[in-house]
Amino acid sequence: MSLDSLSDFITALDRAGELHRITAPVRVHLELTEIADRVSKQPNGGKALLFEHAVLRDGTRSPYPVAINLFGSMRRMAMALGVDDLESIGARITELLDLKVPEGLFGKLSLLPRLMEIAKFPPRMKSGTPACQEIVWRGDEIDLDKIPVLTCWPEDGGPYITLTMVISKDPARGIRNVGMYRVQQLDKQSVAMHWQRHKTGAEHMRQMAARGEKMPVCIAIGADPASMYSASAPLPPNIDEFLFAGFLRRDPVRLAKAVTCDLEVPADADFVIEGYIDPADALVIEGPFGDHTGFYSEADLYPKVYVTAVTMRKNPVYSTTIVGRPPMEDFYLGHATERIFLPLLKLTTPEVVDYHMPAEGGFHNLVFVSIDKKYPGHADKVMHALWGQGLMSLAKVLVVVDKEVNVRNPVEAWWAALNNIDPERDVRFTMGPVDVLDHASRAFTYGSKMGIDATRKWPEEGSTRVWPRVIAMDDATKAKVDALWPTLGIS
Ligand SMILES: Cc1cc2nc3c(=O)[nH]c(=O)nc-3n(C[C@H](O)[C@H](O)[C@H](O)COP(=O)(O)O)c2cc1C
Repeated sequence: MSLDSLSDFITALDRAGELHRITAPVRVHLELTEIADRVSKQPNGGKALLFEHAVLRDGTRSPYPVAINLFGSMRRMAMALGVDDLESIGARITELLDLKVPEGLFGKLSLLPRLMEIAKFPPRMKSGTPACQEIVWRGDEIDLDKIPVLTCWPEDGGPYITLTMVISKDPARGIRNVGMYRVQQLDKQSVAMHWQRHKTGAEHMRQMAARGEKMPVCIAIGADPASMYSASAPLPPNIDEFLFAGFLRRDPVRLAKAVTCDLEVPADADFVIEGYIDPADALVIEGPFGDHTGFYSEADLYPKVYVTAVTMRKNPVYSTTIVGRPPMEDFYLGHATERIFLPLLKLTTPEVVDYHMPAEGGFHNLVFVSIDKKYPGHADKVMHALWGQGLMSLAKVLVVVDKEVNVRNPVEAWWAALNNIDPERDVRFTMGPVDVLDHASRAFTYGSKMGIDATRKWPEEGSTRVWPRVIAMDDATKAKVDALWPTLGIS
C-alpha cells in the first residue's frame, strides 16, 4: 500500500497491530506527554498512540485526534519509508552513487533505467483544490488554540508544535528547504520559530534579512510519512527534502500552492500554518523547552511568525512528538538518518566502515566510528574529516575503532575502545562549533571536542609493545559444544 498521507500511514500501522487507540479524555497540557513518555520507554519503543479524545487547554474536547510515537520503533520507521529494513535504502543510495561508467554500449545503456528512475522523483504539483486546503481559516478565524498543541513538560515556556515540516526558500537560488524545527505557540495567531543557527531555515532568514524582505514560511503538520521524516534529515542545503522524500517513496510527493504565501506545501498535509517573518522585527523569547538531551534548554531569542492562514483537511489528525530523556521517538528518526546517510559519509570518507550514535548521546554527544585503518594517524584524519562535514561538525565526542568492532553495539564499542587506549597518547582535544543544545560548552554553540583514537596502534604512533589478540574459541570446540548443547539441560 502506498502511503500518500498521514491517514494512510495510521491505517497501515493499525493493520499491522502497531497502533493503540486511546478513547479516555487526556489533556494536551502535560498528561499526554506523560502517557507517551511511558510508552516510548517500553521495550522497542512501544506502540504508536492515537488519542481520540484529546482535551484542549481550555478544558474542551479537541475536534482533532492526536497521533504520537508514529515513528517510534525500528519497525514503524521502516514502514514509514516503505522498506523492511532501513539498510536497504543505504544500498539503493550506494547503487545510485556508483557513477563508474560501464564498459561497452550495452553496459552504458544499462545506466539509463537508473537515471530515468531519478527523473521520476521530483515533486509534482497537484491540480484542483488539494486535500490540505479543504478548510481554510483566514483573518479572525485563525485560532491556534483550537489545535491540540501540547505543553510537553512542566517548565516549558508554552505549547509547542513539534513534528513539523517547516518550508522556506533560498531567496537567491529558489531552492526549497524543509526542516523539522519546533515552534512555540505565542498566541492565537503567532508562533516563535526555533531554527537553530546551524540550520538551513536560519540561513534563509539571514539572507532575507540582508535583502530587507519579509520571509514567507509554511509549517506543515502530517503528510506522507517519507516527507515527514525527510524534514528531519540533514540534507545539504541544495537538495530539496521533497525530492528526497520522492526518492524514498519511489513516487513523487504531490505539492500545492499555499493560499497566502509564495511557497508549495504537501497537497495531502493534515494542517498547514502559513505565515511570514519580518526580519526587521525584534526577536521574541522562545523556551525554555524540555529537550531531547533530557534537560531543559534555556529560553533564547528567535523570530516570530505571523500566521496569515491555517489550512487543513476535512478530518485532520494532529501529529506530534515529544522529546525528553532518551530513548524517545526522535531516536528512531535519527537512527533512520544514521543508516541512510552512511553511503554519503563514505563518499567523502571512504575508510569509514560504519558509525553509530547511541540514544544516550542524543546524536551530537557521542559518535562511534569504525574504520579500515591503513596508515598511522588514520583515525585522526577521520576525526577531522567528520568534524568538517555538515551537522557532524557538531559531534562532541568521536570514538574511532578498528573495522572489526561492531559500533552498533555500544557495549562492544566501549569494551574495545577502553581496552585499546593509552589516554594521554590517544585522546585529542580540539575546538569548534557545538550543538545549540549543549549546556556544558564554555560558550553558546562554541566549545571543545574530544576525539578518542581507539584503533590498534602502529609503531609510528608510539606503540612498540605486542598488541594482544582478542580471545575467541576455536571452531572445532565450538562445533562439538553445539552438538552437545541440547543434552546439557541449559535453557
Ligand atoms: C523531533 C525533532 C525535533 C527537532 N527540533 C529541532 C528544532 O527545534 N530546531 C532545530 O534547529 N532542529 C531541530 N531538529 C533537528 C533538525 O530537524 C535537523 O537538524 C534537520 O536536519 C534540519 O534540517 P535542515 O538541515 O534542513 O536545516 C529536530 C529534529 C527532530 C527529530
